[in-house]
Amino acid sequence: MNLEGKVAFITGGAGGIGEGCALSLARFGADIVIADIDSHNGARVAGAIRELGREALFINTDVTHVEQIEAAVTQAATHFGRLDILVNNAGGVRQTPFLKQSERSWRKHIDFNLVSMLAATQAVANVMIDGKRGGTIVNIASSEGLRAAPGFAVYAACKAGMISFTRSMALELADHGIHVHALAPDMIETTGLKPYFDAAGEAENAARDRYIPLKRLGAIEELGNVVVFLASGMASYLTGLTIPVDGGAIASSGWSRSPRDGRWNLYHG
Ligand SMILES: NC(=O)c1ccc[n+]([C@@H]2O[C@H](COP(=O)([O-])OP(=O)(O)OC[C@H]3O[C@@H](n4cnc5c(N)ncnc54)[C@H](O)[C@@H]3O)[C@@H](O)[C@H]2O)c1
Repeated sequence: MNLEGKVAFITGGAGGIGEGCALSLARFGADIVIADIDSHNGARVAGAIRELGREALFINTDVTHVEQIEAAVTQAATHFGRLDILVNNAGGVRQTPFLKQSERSWRKHIDFNLVSMLAATQAVANVMIDGKRGGTIVNIASSEGLRAAPGFAVYAACKAGMISFTRSMALELADHGIHVHALAPDMIETTGLKPYFDAAGEAENAARDRYIPLKRLGAIEELGNVVVFLASGMASYLTGLTIPVDGGAIASSGWSRSPRDGRWNLYHG
């Protein structure tokens, strides 16, 4: 899996899953564009990419502003002369019961998670089409886009929208050799979430082990590694997939390990 000569554009690449994708892609040879609002960590990740012998470009970009995404894509395409991989990663959530959630909050979720993906996809796909070399687009959705998410309903609707959009784009862009996929992570140990996971008590950790078959949180590189595979020639006959990168959490839905004997059961207390 050799990505040398390819250029990846990653939204939210200065931390968390985006950083994992940036470092994994660079390890396999790609040059990286980080479009993020965090210039401090953007410089840190760009430095790590250069240490791997690849080129890195940080572009200060707030993905909730479509014109900033378009300007960043133009700058990146001008700098490198090509774009081959897009990771639509920046996004996020605030827990709110839906009946108390304001219209402003709905729209913020939609802009951050969904509109940002639409804007980056359109801008980067046009660069890929002009370059006539095809490409790969990977949308970082969520397991919440595949199941119910009480308290996160609007976020989950956005993530389900990302998954639906992924399938439509796989068809619309197939004739241009552009492959489009979604990843659906569940619980990934990012710097932002680590304190919450660290603060979890024994009972919470035991409950997590009952429902995640692989019995642990995911690492950011474990998302990055899947993106590397999808962007490589090894995935040349794949498009339109949604891959749960979740230690088996979606596969287990409804099933969990019995706290008594560790056997898998449905709906026990
Ligand atoms: N961490 C998880 O367990 C998990 C699980 C499922 C899905 N996801 C999804 O994965 C993606 C990344 O999540 P994460 O936990 O790595 O995020 P994170 O909070 O760790 O942030 C990732 C990066 O996004 C950047 N960012 C924040 N707002 C931005 C903006 N307006 N414009 C540009 N960049 C911005 C941050 O500066 C940071 O570098 C999100 O779409 C999230 O919904 C994460």
